[in-house]
Amino acid sequence: MPPRLEYSKAMLSNRRHFLQTSVAAGLAGPLAAQENAAQGKKVAANDRIQIATIGVGGMGTGDTKSSLAVPGVELIAISDVYDGRRERAKEVWGKDVFTTRYYREVLARKDINAVIVATPDHWHSRICIDAMNAGKDVYCEKPMVQRIDDGKPVVAAQEKTGRIMQVGSQRVSSIVYQKAKDLLKDGAIGELNMVEAWWDRNSANGAWQYSIPPDASEETIDWDRFLGRAPKVPFDAVRLFRWRNYRDYGTGVAGDLFVHLFSGMHFITGAIGPARVYATGGLRFWKDGRDVPDVMLGLYDYTATERHPAFNLMLRVNFVDGAGESSGFRFVGSEGIMTIDRGVTVSKQPRETEPGYSIETFPKAMQEKFLAQYRRQYPKPAANADSIRPQSEDKYLPPPGYSDHLDHHRNFIAAVRSRKPVVEDPVFGFRAAGPALLSNVSYFENKVCSWDPKTMTMKS
Ligand SMILES: NC(=O)c1ccc[n+]([C@@H]2O[C@H](COP(=O)([O-])OP(=O)(O)OC[C@H]3O[C@@H](n4cnc5c(N)ncnc54)[C@H](O)[C@@H]3O)[C@@H](O)[C@H]2O)c1
Repeated sequence: MPPRLEYSKAMLSNRRHFLQTSVAAGLAGPLAAQENAAQGKKVAANDRIQIATIGVGGMGTGDTKSSLAVPGVELIAISDVYDGRRERAKEVWGKDVFTTRYYREVLARKDINAVIVATPDHWHSRICIDAMNAGKDVYCEKPMVQRIDDGKPVVAAQEKTGRIMQVGSQRVSSIVYQKAKDLLKDGAIGELNMVEAWWDRNSANGAWQYSIPPDASEETIDWDRFLGRAPKVPFDAVRLFRWRNYRDYGTGVAGDLFVHLFSGMHFITGAIGPARVYATGGLRFWKDGRDVPDVMLGLYDYTATERHPAFNLMLRVNFVDGAGESSGFRFVGSEGIMTIDRGVTVSKQPRETEPGYSIETFPKAMQEKFLAQYRRQYPKPAANADSIRPQSEDKYLPPPGYSDHLDHHRNFIAAVRSRKPVVEDPVFGFRAAGPALLSNVSYFENKVCSWDPKTMTMKS
């Protein structure tokens, strides 16, 4: 299965310089660094970082590949509850890779510096806390936690142990998002008042109907280990291979996809989270036994902070979009709109210089009187070249082949080496996961939720 990158700072100062001096048509920056990674730059022995991956399905495989593309990273071990995935890991990374069904055997090894946690969501907090307590640095896939109550214990474990922990929303390391952040800060769209973001899909795989291997059985799968804290249910391969469809293991479209949109938007605006959350939607098409909606809309109120004015956020996921698949952002400001898809586009149209009038329903004499007064105040300018209002659209595209996912792993490995903090740490990760999970609370409990983004606490 190809890694389903759901697309996506510590941006270096020279990168910032590079971005600013690059031509508007193309974002440049880490390409050279990515090329170095591909060429396998020589790394001193004490700079080697030995990693393990826990959960080596679609994303665990993608994460491991991106991590190994960073010079000096070596894969030591793999843990997965399904035998076929461990067998595949040996096919891809060699027979010497240690494999086990039980992740604690990975954590017990002294030769591992960092672990990638890419299991289903219901295991994230437990494994991250165990890993940090075992002295490992952690790259944890998004959403950082499956339940609101899981968030603070992960934050506390990171603070107590001092380990590096980065959450896996790769947009936070993207040069495209860094460019959007710079543009917003430099006033490219004036004062922000609204953000819209969406993720629409129209395919079985897009709606999480992933393939199930013919040998899936209680012999090849450690079923109890998969279930973990989830309710005990009889073996059912669908629940493992399509775990996103069930609230016992996943977090619905909000935890799977809204969380990326929160992470990217928080990075760009410096916001830390909404005060109010309301979500609605329904299960409209993919009625395959799932207990989560396939269409969801979320509305979020962000109050003003010293980093941004008050604004509203609208999020949408639609797995039944008959016209195709797309994902993007619109940042709406008083002076323009910034959209993000593959790159960033800033569109502007200056306001009319006169207010205009609506006088058709006035008596004729009143219309004439109004117009005479109006034209005294706003004399009609002669049409000439100077009176044509400029409409502008500036596009910034990343270089071909650019991967924010690789940059996200580069940033993680750099932090593991330098011991300097990452941007997408557990606090950042929880501030993105919290409102995503509250969207589910709002949807399932049919209520508007209040959230304190500073203390990361649900108020109602
Ligand atoms: N950053 C992104 O763009 C992105 C993209 C896809 C998935 N993800 C995230 O990655 C995580 C994994 O998603 P996926 O699509 O790879 O799922 P997946 O089902 O393909 O892989 C999960 C793997 O974890 C294994 N597993 C389950 N319980 C385990 C346990 N207790 N110990 C060890 N292994 C266990 C499963 O057998 C499976 O192989 C999820 O949290 C998901 O949200 C992130």
